[in-house]
Order: sequence, then C-alpha cells, then structure tokens
Amino acid sequence: MRKTATISGVRRIVRQWKKAGKRVGFVPTMGALHEGHLSLIRHSRTVTDHTVVSIFVNPTQFGPGEDFKAYPRTLTRDLALCRSEGADLVFVPRTPTMYPEGEQTRIHVGSLGDPWEGRVRPGHFDGVATVVLKLFEIVSPDVAVFGQKDFQQAAILLQMVRDLNLPVKLLVRPTVREPDGLALSSRNVYLDNLSRQEAPVLYRVLKWARGRIRNGRVSTAFLERRMRTEVESGGGFTVDYVAFCDPNTLESKATPIPPLVILIAATCRRPGPAKGRRFIDNLLIRN
Ligand code: PAJ
Repeated sequence: MRKTATISGVRRIVRQWKKAGKRVGFVPTMGALHEGHLSLIRHSRTVTDHTVVSIFVNPTQFGPGEDFKAYPRTLTRDLALCRSEGADLVFVPRTPTMYPEGEQTRIHVGSLGDPWEGRVRPGHFDGVATVVLKLFEIVSPDVAVFGQKDFQQAAILLQMVRDLNLPVKLLVRPTVREPDGLALSSRNVYLDNLSRQEAPVLYRVLKWARGRIRNGRVSTAFLERRMRTEVESGGGFTVDYVAFCDPNTLESKATPIPPLVILIAATCRRPGPAKGRRFIDNLLIRN
C-alpha cells in the first residue's frame, strides 16, 4: 500500500494504473475508520483493479458551532486498517493542499441540499460537494463508493455527477450496523454507556414504521408522532426531524407509499461527550 499527501503523487500513481488499462475505485472518508468505511473499500476492490482511499477531515463542511476540531482523528490506526483491507493508495492531504491560501471557488448544490440535514447544517452540502469534486479531479476514479448511511449526501453527489457530466460511476452501499441495529458512525465513540444503550431506538422506530407501512393504510402524521414519542421517551435524545421522502427528490410525501426513504435525525441531550451531537439514520423502502 502506498500513501501520499500530495496531489501530484496521487496523479502520478493513478496515471500509471490507467496506462496499464486498470480500473480505479475511490472511497473518500474523513478517517476514524470503522466497518462501514471498510465495507466500501471491500466493495471497491471487488469491482475495480485498484482502490484509492482519501482521509481528510474537510473543514468546509463543518459549521461554526460544529465539531471540526474535536472530530476523531486516528490516522495510524486508519492506515493499518486500509492496509489490511488491501487499499492500494491512501491520500492524506493537509488542509493547505486542499484549500491553499487565497482559494475561493465553491460548488453550490441545488434544492436537494436545502431540507433535512441542509436546514440544520447550512452550507454543509456545499462543502461536501466542493471537496468531493476536488477529490474526483485529483484521483480521477472510474468508480466512487459511498454509504447509504448519509442518504442525502449520496443523493446530492449523484445529482452533481449528472449535472456536471463527471466521468465517474457512483455506487451507494448499504449501512453497516452494530448487532443491536445502531448505524456505525465515527461519532458513536462519543456515546456514554446510557446513550449508547438508547441510540438503537433510531433504527428500531424506522423498522417499526416500515412494518406499519407494509401492513397497509397509515398516515405519515401518525407514524411521525409515534416515532418521535418513542425516540424521546428514554430522555437521551430529541428528534430533529422524521421525514418520509421521495428517494430521488427528497421531497416529503403526503402518504407513505413506497418507493420512499424514511430519514431520521436526533440530537443527544444527555450530559457528557455526546451532548449536542447529532445522529442520523434512514431506511429505504422499495416498491
Ligand atoms: P465519512 O463520514 O468519513 O464517511 C465516508 C463514507 O463512509 C461515506 O460515503 C459514508 O456514507 C460512509 N459510511 C459512514 N458510515 C457508514 C455505515 N455505517 N455504513 C456504510 N457506510 C458508511 O461522508 C463523509 O465522510 C464526508 O462527507 C466525505 C464524503 C468524505 C466528504 O468529506
């Protein structure tokens, strides 16, 4: 496995692979790698010849009050995991490499970036799209692999690839979960014992709603009310939103008829390291 912090280093290596006719896969991450990230690396390896992983905690996608400084950074461990998963190249740029003094250009995503996470985190998706486009330009992958865990992010990036005619195929892979259903997330390390025990409620209510929808007529208002009450009953989390959306446009659906995605976000209220941190999950219900 090779590792580089420079743009020219990545380009040199990828150029050699392409010259040899190899297909290049790419998994962008912010590090603090867990099984969710590793599942993406594994998938990339099965569909391409060489896999590039980037590890970069992207400052432009964090808001002023967010956890950019406190975001978990575990580079030595991350590199060992990339190596054991068979990644071929890890790109670990420094911030001035990605955002040199005086830079100013940004991608502005359209209305897909407005609701849900976009409302709570203004500018977040512009920052994500900007860094992902820059990384695509540096790595020039044939395939890039993302997780369904960040459903809105994946939808926005698919839209960007279409809108800008980017020559890359995006693949979206299922959310990897703990045995009790909690979606793996780099932010789970903040959860104290009590909040950790309570957090699987997010996935539980998603599955409950799916069951009710499959059983027949039920209103979104009813589902939303019951889901909120259940999540908040433990006292550790407050719900930011529960949304029943069209999986492509992310617009709310008046009636919960598949295909639809249920998005949920909650903030941890319990005193401790997780207080004020947000946790998201979703469930896609196909036809
Ligand atoms: P990060 O949160 O590190 O996630 C990197 C990739 O891993 C994303 O595609 C995310 O959806 C996926 N992922 C996270 N948790 C997962 C899980 N439990 N199961 C499956 N996949 C999971 O998302 C970002 O970084 C950044 O916004 C980035 C795209 C790298 C741009 O900075």
